[in-house]
Amino acid sequence: MPSVRHVAVLAAGEGKRLGAGRPKVLTPLWGRPALRYPLEAARALQPERIVVVAGKHLPAIQAALAAGSGADVFFARQEHPTGTGAALLAAREALAGAQGPLLVLYGDCPLTTPDLLSRLVAAHLAAGAAVTVLTVALERPAGYGRIVRDAAGQLVRIVEESDADAATRALTEVNTGVYVVELPGAFDDLEKAGRDNSQGEIYLTDLVALTLRRGERVASLRCDDATEVLGFNDHRELAQVRGLLRRRILDRHLSAGVEIVDPDTTFIDADVRIEAGARILPCTVIEGDTRIASGCEVGPFAHLRAGTVLMAGAEVGNFTETKAATLGAGTKAKHLSYLGDSVIGANTNIGAGTITANYDGKSKHPTKIGDRAFIGSGTVLVAPVTVEDEAVTGAGAVVTRRSVVPARETWVGVPARPLRPRKDS
Ligand code: UD1
Ligand code: CA
Repeated sequence: MPSVRHVAVLAAGEGKRLGAGRPKVLTPLWGRPALRYPLEAARALQPERIVVVAGKHLPAIQAALAAGSGADVFFARQEHPTGTGAALLAAREALAGAQGPLLVLYGDCPLTTPDLLSRLVAAHLAAGAAVTVLTVALERPAGYGRIVRDAAGQLVRIVEESDADAATRALTEVNTGVYVVELPGAFDDLEKAGRDNSQGEIYLTDLVALTLRRGERVASLRCDDATEVLGFNDHRELAQVRGLLRRRILDRHLSAGVEIVDPDTTFIDADVRIEAGARILPCTVIEGDTRIASGCEVGPFAHLRAGTVLMAGAEVGNFTETKAATLGAGTKAKHLSYLGDSVIGANTNIGAGTITANYDGKSKHPTKIGDRAFIGSGTVLVAPVTVEDEAVTGAGAVVTRRSVVPARETWVGVPARPLRPRKDS
């Protein structure tokens, strides 16, 4: 895989149409902020430095990436969104002294694959180009910059739709916004770029004409799959992007030996890890950093939230929700339960309708259940609470807070108390 020395991810646009009050690049996509997708695609090319260009949302973006994997990312601030060229120039300081190829990506294009990016870099290097543009042919090119070629097929200019005449607008090959450019030449050219266009912006696309004027080469690579360069500007596009990403995540698990009975009704976050040999039944949502071992069965209608760990052969069934819960090997919670902030040992049975009451209105409290315990149907475990190995709770028991049900004892009733043998028996 050809590597690239530097990467700039542009993320200082406003993205007002989604209207969520959060920066567009932090839109959650299967448990990750959108920006993490292009970052991880770029990382596969092993760059020395990745610079994210952000605007007024920079602190929020920094915080979001610190929470995920993003420690190696540098940040640059573009004070005002005065165009894509100005955005790249804002990265100049963060890339001071940088030489050689720089990959430019958008923060709101989460579907671009490392394979496509490395083919772009390879094309750039093979052509000895100073600028290489990733293009795509679209049936409906409206809104995009059009790729203008001369009779020999050489890319000569990119013209924004708002600056284009009718003939140029009729062109269907468009600029994706992904480029490889040579440093420091690209920065020098952008310093010279004017703002005499319909939007009064500094256009990154002007690099094409500026580079040719210097007598250097401009190359292009056409991407065959338009979905790889999809961005999202409104909720329809966002839903489309989510759908495509979802399918990719499912395909990755299917290829790795996970059985997913009905991909159409299965929703798995990007950072979920599932071992080969696990079975996922229909209508199931698996979130966050959940881990599922081999031999587990999940669903139908299960909801596994962040922090869930299912050890080998554990089973979670109908209408059961887990959150920050570990289920030991062979443990089963098959029906109508909520298990939160819980650590459960091996081969324990969680009866239908068991609830860990982990929240007292102020804070969350833990529940601990040992190995081979038997939690009767409809048990409420008011956390913090402990049920030791092989202990039993009766149907409908309410185990009150700070109780410890000792190993092998049976507790029943409301509030739950040790079951004593009847006097007359
Ligand atoms: C740009 C291209 C256009 C291309 C299209 C592909 C220019 C002048 N035009 O269009 O040829 O077809 O992308 O989607 O480059 N951004 C900043 N700061 C800014 C402006 C934008 O960081 O001041 C970032 C945005 O966050 C976004 C990306 O740049 O990630 C593209 O911005 P956007 O406004 O969506 O693209 P256009 O200018 O419409
Ligand atoms: Ca724009």
